[in-house]
Amino acid sequence: MKKRILIVLLALLAVATTTARQKLVKVETDQLSLVFSVGDNGRLYQSYFGKKLTHDSDYDHLKNGVEAYLTHGMEDYFEPALHVDHADNNSSTLLKYVSHETSTLANGAKRTMVILKDDKYPTTVKLFFDAYAKQNVISTHTEITNGEKKTVMLRKFASSLLSFNRSKYVLTEYSGDWANEVNMSETELNFGKKVLDTKLGSRASMFMPSFFQVSMDKSASETEGEVLVGTLAWTGNYQFTFEVDQHHRLRVLSGINPYFSDYNLKSGETFTTPEFIFSYSYNGRGEASRNFHSWARKYRVNKGEETRMTLLNNWEATYFDFNEDKLVNLMDDAVKLGVDMFLLDDGWFANKHPRNSDTQGLGDWEENEKKLPHKVSYLCEQAAKKGIKFGIWIEPEMVNPKSELYEKHPDWVIHLPNRDEYYFRNQLVLDLSNPKVVDYVWSVIDNLMTKYPDIAFFKWDCNSPITNIYSNYLKDKQTHLYIEYVRGLYEVLNRVHNKYPNLPMMLCSGGSGRIDYEALKYFTEYWPSDNTDPIERIYIQYGYSSVYPSKVQCAHVTTWNRDASMKFKVDVASMGKLGFDIKLSDMKEDEIKFCQEAIKNYNRLKPVILDGDMYRLVSPYSGNHASTMMVDGSKDKAVVFAFNIHPRYSEHLLPVKLQGLDPNKTYSVKEINRMGGWPVEADGKTYSGEYLMNVGLNLFGTGKLKSHVLEIVAQ
Ligand code: DGJ
Repeated sequence: MKKRILIVLLALLAVATTTARQKLVKVETDQLSLVFSVGDNGRLYQSYFGKKLTHDSDYDHLKNGVEAYLTHGMEDYFEPALHVDHADNNSSTLLKYVSHETSTLANGAKRTMVILKDDKYPTTVKLFFDAYAKQNVISTHTEITNGEKKTVMLRKFASSLLSFNRSKYVLTEYSGDWANEVNMSETELNFGKKVLDTKLGSRASMFMPSFFQVSMDKSASETEGEVLVGTLAWTGNYQFTFEVDQHHRLRVLSGINPYFSDYNLKSGETFTTPEFIFSYSYNGRGEASRNFHSWARKYRVNKGEETRMTLLNNWEATYFDFNEDKLVNLMDDAVKLGVDMFLLDDGWFANKHPRNSDTQGLGDWEENEKKLPHKVSYLCEQAAKKGIKFGIWIEPEMVNPKSELYEKHPDWVIHLPNRDEYYFRNQLVLDLSNPKVVDYVWSVIDNLMTKYPDIAFFKWDCNSPITNIYSNYLKDKQTHLYIEYVRGLYEVLNRVHNKYPNLPMMLCSGGSGRIDYEALKYFTEYWPSDNTDPIERIYIQYGYSSVYPSKVQCAHVTTWNRDASMKFKVDVASMGKLGFDIKLSDMKEDEIKFCQEAIKNYNRLKPVILDGDMYRLVSPYSGNHASTMMVDGSKDKAVVFAFNIHPRYSEHLLPVKLQGLDPNKTYSVKEINRMGGWPVEADGKTYSGEYLMNVGLNLFGTGKLKSHVLEIVAQ
């Protein structure tokens, strides 16, 4: 009996000392808590991630979970976040908690910094968590500092490790290819690893952008279920590893792809990882996306809270075949349509090797004298006379071997010195690890802006991935190239941003081979795909809307898909940042009239479409129809887009239930962007928000490629 009492007392004492000793690190948003605890062994563990815990006393009950920043060489069997080869060739790291502190960033986010240190080596790791309370978004990154006297080798350096303990994990990935971007597919994660990564360098996202969703317990719907949405803010190779262990716990490891990226960290140097940004919703995927959208507009995207210009681009209207007259005619088209800007695309430069096709001239950024004898200044003047802005295309990181730039600086390109050159779209990538190349790339933009300060917009293209990787500049540090390339790019973009803070820029990469939330600090928008077939765009824009708001998604009306009407094309493009890539001579008079009206509607509704909350009402993946709506912050205005894609004969059509409205407000419904045909039955009627959200409206029909746009206004 005495022995039993003693055991109980000892057990109680053990619990008491654990509790008393246990240090907690809490990262919180309005709805989420991410909690770390320090174990008796001094190591840091993730103890909780989920709905916010509001009773302080409950924290004592939390158990240590998976180690917060797993290191290579110790006793855990799973994929490490950190692998350092120390100067003495010992490759183990054991991190112990030192301290943590919180602060408020200039933008209002609450930062938690945790300092960890190896107790045998002077290796310091700082984990940063920036919590955006209202948006329920957390951004996390890591700093690794080498305190040894000699250089150490970083082999793995993740931005974040998160762990979950649920019955089931369903991963949504977004794979594709050029003109076939972001196809959403689901995979259940079971024991072992699923890796999503890229080795494409400059065009890293060509086959998949750097974001994912993981639904917990079951596949989440738009309005129900738990879902993690994460993305890496890095304009280069990324890697997400989803590893399920023997206890069915999931670890999500996110960061730069360590592939061919061993990094020599000199004594005293710090390596800063990119941010892994995530949100988590208990109310389905829609809410998680809206969290991202409002966070992005408020905190991340360049000019995220400002409006966007509509435009007419000459690429598909002329390709390389143009002269000043043709361009000025297209400016007249832009004026007639009523858009804000004319954008001159590829083909305006190079003389020795004129840029009349994609085979030559890239790198030689003087106007082609035959095409533009009066230079860019003439085009700026013409645009100004016509009352529109002028924008221009550049691809400053690339070079055609048939160019003066390459003739002068063959050592500036990324290629293997002892092998045949390999060309992707007939071009090579300039070596941005070289500061001279950084200066040159910066000078392309700076010279243009100095000569032509009226340039109001850049479309910044990037058509080749990094292949045949070798830098003349980096010599014995070849494995730094993928990383230094991106850092060189950021150096250029920082210079642009600092000197020309008001310059909007579109990020393009032969479609969207490059898009992420670090790049969007500098760019105001991006080009989601060269595929502008409106059917494909419904899917592509839907996929990207998982993390990117409509404000940054350029959507152009072109001649792609001759079966689709102009109305259908314009309605699809009006869900994003509207533009045209077409000449009016390819359009009929009634189509031009329709576009003029639709652009006016778009301009009026821009604050709702670009800044409102997006609700994906019907997924194109669910059948033959699709519908999306946007609601402004006060729930007074909404715009609903509805599309019949390939409806079936005698299909069972359901009403579309709206979302995000105030159930107690009365709304008038008006169909806009009409072009013949019958209006929807709701046109001209009023309904309560309750009715619209519970009964819904009949917006779908059996007519192929038909669309409706509704303007909904509170009375
Ligand atoms: C690829 C882009 O995606 C297109 O929009 C166009 O700008 C071409 N490059 C020009 O070469």
